[in-house]
Amino acid sequence: MSEPIRFFYRGAVHEVRDAAPTQTILQHLREDLHCTGTKEGCAEGDCGACTVVIGSLEEGELRLQAVNSCIQFTPTLDGKALFSVEDLQQPDGSLHPVQQALVECHGSQCGFCTPGFAMSLWGMYLKQEGRPPSRCEINDALSGNLCRCTGYRPIIDAARRMVELPPVGFDRAALAGRLRALQRSHGFSYAAQGQRFHAPRTLDELARLRAEYPTAVLLAGSTDVGLWVTKQMRVLEDIIYLGQVEALKTVHEADGMLEIGAGASLEDAYAAVCRHYPDELSELWQRFASLPIRHAGTLGGNVANGSPIGDSMPWLIALGAQLVLGGADGERVLALEEFYLGYQRKDLRPGEFVRALRVPLPRAGLRFRTYKLAKRFDQDISAVCAAFAITLDGDVIASARIAFGGMAETPKRAAGAESQLAGQPWNEDTLRAAMAALAQDYTPLSDMRASSTYRMQAARNLLRRFWFETRTADPLPAGAVNAFAA
Ligand SMILES: Cc1cc2nc3c(=O)[nH]c(=O)nc-3n(C[C@H](O)[C@H](O)[C@H](O)COP(=O)(O)OP(=O)(O)OC[C@H]3O[C@@H](n4cnc5c(N)ncnc54)[C@H](O)[C@@H]3O)c2cc1C
Ligand code: FES
Ligand code: FES
Repeated sequence: MSEPIRFFYRGAVHEVRDAAPTQTILQHLREDLHCTGTKEGCAEGDCGACTVVIGSLEEGELRLQAVNSCIQFTPTLDGKALFSVEDLQQPDGSLHPVQQALVECHGSQCGFCTPGFAMSLWGMYLKQEGRPPSRCEINDALSGNLCRCTGYRPIIDAARRMVELPPVGFDRAALAGRLRALQRSHGFSYAAQGQRFHAPRTLDELARLRAEYPTAVLLAGSTDVGLWVTKQMRVLEDIIYLGQVEALKTVHEADGMLEIGAGASLEDAYAAVCRHYPDELSELWQRFASLPIRHAGTLGGNVANGSPIGDSMPWLIALGAQLVLGGADGERVLALEEFYLGYQRKDLRPGEFVRALRVPLPRAGLRFRTYKLAKRFDQDISAVCAAFAITLDGDVIASARIAFGGMAETPKRAAGAESQLAGQPWNEDTLRAAMAALAQDYTPLSDMRASSTYRMQAARNLLRRFWFETRTADPLPAGAVNAFAA
């Protein structure tokens, strides 16, 4: 039975009954609600013109996060609150400090990007609670917004200025109360225009739906699937949405492993893993897409999509992460690298889904680094992503695991280079042998991101950089060696 989508917008509960399940939130705002402040630039999560803030309850706690409305489907709003740029104006007609600061600092020229910047800034304003943001926090909050006119400095000035203006409060308790009243005790089912959308709440319900609709598309954060619709114009008949399954979002430690639920957002997953590997993974965390993409996208989605240029798989494989698959027949655990059988081919049996990833915690003697090479610092896909993990016993390499993205049709280990390292002293001769072996491990292709020759040279140089940073008993911090010097 189809139920209406219910969400909170502009002070009232809003119901949707006949929108296609793959209608985007942006389309709903502009075409159905006629709230046209939110803009469409790219329709693929890249430019930020469509940024909105979504309020949701996670384990009973309210979260307010900026996301890209152009790639999120309307039924995913069920039980949540939507805030668009129209919400910023105050009841007396005055501007919100975010808007006032953009005006005062000349943060808008043609204005096309401005609603998106305003919403990213509002997301940060809510998070900061009056605390002045650092330049790093501002850069991160704005990493998903592009502007062709201002040169960014006036917008960055506005980000600083907004917290100096008389503050405007936000009644979190009232919103949390409204959202609690919207929560369903059962899974949500919605159908319109020949498409069906199922949102289970438990793992059992998910397993049952997966068995009942074997061809349904699993939808997590929609940062890949959304583009199948907006860019490839694919029609998705049945969708099983994972975003309401709380059990998929848990993060906990057990048996020397950090277990991260497949439905944990990229932001939550990287925050959890960076508590254990702060020097090694923080830069990659910051450089993974943009903050709105990391709010929506999940670690499970990154791994399940299994793109050869995805950023999470190399470091997960190098650390020896395990993949936990769930389904009606119980659980299956395998080493992550065994999951990838070929280009876009995975060892995922009918009825299965990715339930969690288990990441080994740091151990004595571990030297671990990961490096992302892309043309931009923020919001860019890797040309090459490398991860190296060796365990030293004195001066000797007791074990070695190397994995690359961008070098083969799947995320792949460098078996030849690893065998040159294992059991050898960590010196320049060993390094050279491992660098040479990379040519047997990979035959990278040339594409718009990089040539084959560049990729191979870069892979070798990254291995050398890893050696520079880890060759002594007192290793240099990650990033201490400049890539050019290496
Ligand atoms: C602007 C932009 C920038 C990006 N930048 C980066 C980047 O820097 N680095 C990078 O690696 N990626 C990047 N991506 C890709 C994307 O963000 C990731 O692949 C993301 O992690 C996918 O997760 P999701 O939850 O959004 O998955 P979805 O889009 O919902 O799903 C992706 C795929 O995984 C399947 N799936 C999802 N969850 C499960 C599950 N639990 N079990 C089984 N199958 C499942 C879906 O069916 C689908 O096939 C970017 C994307 C965009 C739009
Ligand atoms: S329209 Fe460009 S990110 Fe959504
Ligand atoms: S003000 Fe013109 S694109 Fe930003």
